Amino acid sequence: MPLDRRSLSERLAAFPRLGLASLPTPLEPMPRLTAHLGGPRLWVKREDATGLGFGGNKLRKLDYVLHEAVSRGADTVVSGGVVQSNSQRQVAAVAAKLGLACHLVVYHGRLAPPTSEYETSGNALLNRLFGAELHDVPWTGDRNVAIRALFSDLEAKGGRPYFVPYGVSDALGAVGYATTIAEIESQAAQSGFTPAAIVHCTGSAGTQAGLVVGAALALPGTRIVGIDIDAEPERVRADVVAFAKEASGLLDIPFDEAGVEVVAGHAGPAYGVPHDATIEAIRLAGRLEALALDPVYSGKGLAGLIALIRERRWREDEDVVFLHTGGAPALFAYQRALGI
Ligand SMILES: Cc1ncc(COP(=O)(O)O)c(C=O)c1O
Repeated sequence: MPLDRRSLSERLAAFPRLGLASLPTPLEPMPRLTAHLGGPRLWVKREDATGLGFGGNKLRKLDYVLHEAVSRGADTVVSGGVVQSNSQRQVAAVAAKLGLACHLVVYHGRLAPPTSEYETSGNALLNRLFGAELHDVPWTGDRNVAIRALFSDLEAKGGRPYFVPYGVSDALGAVGYATTIAEIESQAAQSGFTPAAIVHCTGSAGTQAGLVVGAALALPGTRIVGIDIDAEPERVRADVVAFAKEASGLLDIPFDEAGVEVVAGHAGPAYGVPHDATIEAIRLAGRLEALALDPVYSGKGLAGLIALIRERRWREDEDVVFLHTGGAPALFAYQRALGI
């Protein structure tokens, strides 16, 4: 077989997308946070600035996944998440924009005990604003079973639903997320550097799967470092590898699963519970760089990065990119817990 010499962007161009996310997102220096921590040179990739419905990392995945829904003639999108899920808020936003009905399974009980602002503010408020129909379900530990049950129910009633997995994490979502690497590759080159690492929080694993596959081709010297925020690092790593294998098949990019790195120890006491390190990271990002991180995902991701910097993982003359994956609406749902 002839060698496939296509670039990452050329491979990604073979996959149709809706174009609802505002791309490329900026790659910006963080000089004040860099000075505060004493190096390496820190950059932020503004995945919170993807636009629609308050933005976030899921819009990139949804651009591809919901293109498939539209081309199959779906009239309804079905997905789910916890009460303050950023993923389902972005699903609701895209569905509203496309004029599709949106049904969301809302899991209760993964975090206990919730406050009244957790139940009603932030993403919960936005889901209602974007017109989603919410179905309250107890959390059992299985992310997708109740979403599938709702899908079957809507189908049996004669609808044309489209199933969007928890976190929009599947192989096509990972392909969509590999677009971030194509952007970082050219933005970093324009600024004259190759990142030593891209650090981000990882949960349902599709984001990291896209990053590792994209980087295997376009940024082979760049380490992808996922900070586990689910307090389930083995499960997260296994899911990253599974989605990345499928996505690498779709993009025809070999990748080495031995290099998949999920860092444990920064999730705090449990998923969704911010601890002192998270709160420190959120405050530093706000005060020094005017970035609004969230208490469940990006705040823990930055807490992990700060810990690795304090362990001297990188030299001062290296460049490290922090992926701000979004989630700021949840700040308002955690106001009391954060004491801000
Ligand atoms: C703000 C934010 N960052 C990061 C993630 C993690 O991405 P993934 O689920 O693809 O691992 C999520 C997932 O819900 C999120 O909402």
